Amino acid sequence: MLSVNELQLGYHGSQRIIKDLSLELPENKVIGLIGPNGCGKSTLLKGLCRLIQPQSGNILLRQQNMAQLNNRQIARQISVLPQVQTNPEGLSVRQLVEYGRTPYVSHWGKLSAADSQIVDSAMHEMAIDSLADMPLDALSGGQQQRAWIAMILAQDTDIIMLDEPTTYLDISYQIELMRLIRALKEKGKSIIVVLHDLNQAARYCDLLVVLKSGELQMMGTPCEVMTEAMLAEIFDVQAKVITDPVAGSPMCVYL
Ligand SMILES: Nc1ncnc2c1ncn2[C@@H]1O[C@H](COP(=O)(O)OP(=O)(O)OP(=O)(O)O)[C@@H](O)[C@H]1O
Ligand SMILES: [Mg+2]
Repeated sequence: MLSVNELQLGYHGSQRIIKDLSLELPENKVIGLIGPNGCGKSTLLKGLCRLIQPQSGNILLRQQNMAQLNNRQIARQISVLPQVQTNPEGLSVRQLVEYGRTPYVSHWGKLSAADSQIVDSAMHEMAIDSLADMPLDALSGGQQQRAWIAMILAQDTDIIMLDEPTTYLDISYQIELMRLIRALKEKGKSIIVVLHDLNQAARYCDLLVVLKSGELQMMGTPCEVMTEAMLAEIFDVQAKVITDPVAGSPMCVYL
């Protein structure tokens, strides 16, 4: 799906954040991106959807160099929920979710009946139907998060990138979101998700990518990656890894 070749990423005036990273991300998997604060997870995600340009190296999106695609071509294939969202002023929930259809309508034109139906069903999926006409600013943090995720669903892309989507969500919505991510995968989508809750990552992801100081440390299945040695080395925590009694996935219990 995405082939990353000797990628270097950084910000204007700052040093390299992602250093010489090469990685093959397969189609139709839930891929978890994990690593300590400041290791470059959000930076990598921004690079993968071309919100920031490579300093060097390249990324192939299904064999096409992303540098040669226009924004619309990318937006029809990749949707992204950034870690921090800025609510456009005066926007209602429905208007935000309608933005998800932008890559498909011409010149900010009117939405078709089919577009409106997709918007309605995205709001329904995130249980925000009743908030549709509320100003985004008047919503709680978790409700806003759900509105942004609904916008991503309305965009209906094959590849979905989510940067810490469970932040602000209560436990019930967290579980629902992780289940929704699995359901999207079953429908053929590919999901790349940054998560801090390692047990959630191990339970719901097919593959985990571990970053530290801007470098790829490991990539593999949760069983391969979630070891006591990795937790000590990458996160500097002492933990026991046991088997989750419900899901059967590796589960860490901190000492
Ligand atoms: N817009 C920016 N301009 C300059 N430096 C930045 C910018 N955004 C991030 N950085 C720097 O890049 C490094 C990696 O940040 P990044 O946000 O990718 O980390 P992260 O792994 O997502 O961390 P967290 O878990 O806290 O979200 C940090 O040192 C940060 O200070
Ligand atoms: Mg981040």
